[in-house]
Amino acid sequence: MILATAGSAVGLGNIWRFPYTAGENGGAAFILINLAFVFLIGVPAMVAEFVVGRSARTNAARAYRTSGGSSVWTVTGYIGILASTIILGFYSVVAGWCLQYLYAAIVGDVTGDSAYVARYFSEFSSKPFLPICWALLFLFLTHLVVRRGVRHGIERAAKLMMPALFVLLLILVIASCSLPGASEGITFLFHPDFSKVTTTTLFEAMGQAFFSLSLGCCCLCTYASYFSRKEHLVRSAAQVAIIDALVAILAGLMIFPAAFAVGVQPDSGPSLVFITLPNVFHQAFSSVPVVGHVISILFYALLTLAALTSTISMHEIGTAFVHEEFKTTRGKGAWIITGVCAVIGVLSSLSMGAVDGLTVGGKNLLDFFDDFTSQILLPVGGMLTCLYVGWRMPKKVVRNELTNDGTLHGRFYGIFLVAVRYVCPSFILIIFLHQSGLI
Ligand code: PHE
Repeated sequence: MILATAGSAVGLGNIWRFPYTAGENGGAAFILINLAFVFLIGVPAMVAEFVVGRSARTNAARAYRTSGGSSVWTVTGYIGILASTIILGFYSVVAGWCLQYLYAAIVGDVTGDSAYVARYFSEFSSKPFLPICWALLFLFLTHLVVRRGVRHGIERAAKLMMPALFVLLLILVIASCSLPGASEGITFLFHPDFSKVTTTTLFEAMGQAFFSLSLGCCCLCTYASYFSRKEHLVRSAAQVAIIDALVAILAGLMIFPAAFAVGVQPDSGPSLVFITLPNVFHQAFSSVPVVGHVISILFYALLTLAALTSTISMHEIGTAFVHEEFKTTRGKGAWIITGVCAVIGVLSSLSMGAVDGLTVGGKNLLDFFDDFTSQILLPVGGMLTCLYVGWRMPKKVVRNELTNDGTLHGRFYGIFLVAVRYVCPSFILIIFLHQSGLI
């Protein structure tokens, strides 16, 4: 179950989103702030979601009612369902790009100089039909798995694939760091320049922490409803956070040295991973192209799989909700979620250049959905969960969850209570108020 939760956490958020967000926010300082958020706010908020899920053992919306709340708190569940549905919509588009790159890696399409690779991405992603087809295919794959409920199959696959992804990442880190001119990228990643830190940096770092840990959208709450009573919740949360942070740092070490080596700007936005990686494969393995070819295929295959273990967890939240609350069959519930996500996905994909005007506040729809969910909905969901567990849930239930019915000893119950009552909610609130200019 820990691996399943790690499978949900580790995904495009680490390998696609983390490097480009760090790149846009100055590198090392952003990464340090992000790590502080992961461990100071992320871990307690994750434990809080675990507490709600394991004690209630039901779908997201109902969990907040049955675990001792009133229907007011059910709003937290609804926010989670809304957030996970929007995320699944635009995430499928990016996962679809991975499928295209997997195909391109197989047929040897993205090999050329860095200008060609950059052009390849912008031409492909702004096409009207092809990226939509890949996104819908990916969504359909997710749908099939969720509909059949083959949770165990996919988790078993994740068990094999996650370590494989880790090993491949390590190989690519070594390859990327040994490119000529890579040292500038390593400096960018590890030498913080705090003069560049603004409230927006804090805001983005918090959003990234929530997104990457799958926090604030009831995903962890849903998974925790399958946890055994013996699972040590605090330790599990810390393990998931460490795995997630490690994969993100490795992804940074894979992308930035390569970006600097081939002259790609670190702040190129969502295209960053897609325009630097093919260069790593191409240049680092130029003396043995067949190795580069095989590694690139394996990499995109595993990236697709990492994305799939995340999308399944997002889809499951909505499907379980529609199925239980509207008394439909599970299959019908899954179709409704797939349909809504398909609409969000199509609009997000078209906003990458195929159709003008699909923007909100100057951002294309894909970026808007991404920012709106990770920077607003997820932190609000996380804050409400902390407040709920800290102030509203019966103390006895919380204590039993934290100490496994009194069998675990230690001070973590007291520390946890302070964290979810005061520290997490006030941090999140202050950052919100500061960002909106109110303080
Ligand atoms: N944490 C996932 C990733 O990093 C994304 C995700 C967000 C998954 C919210 C589930 C819920 O890719």
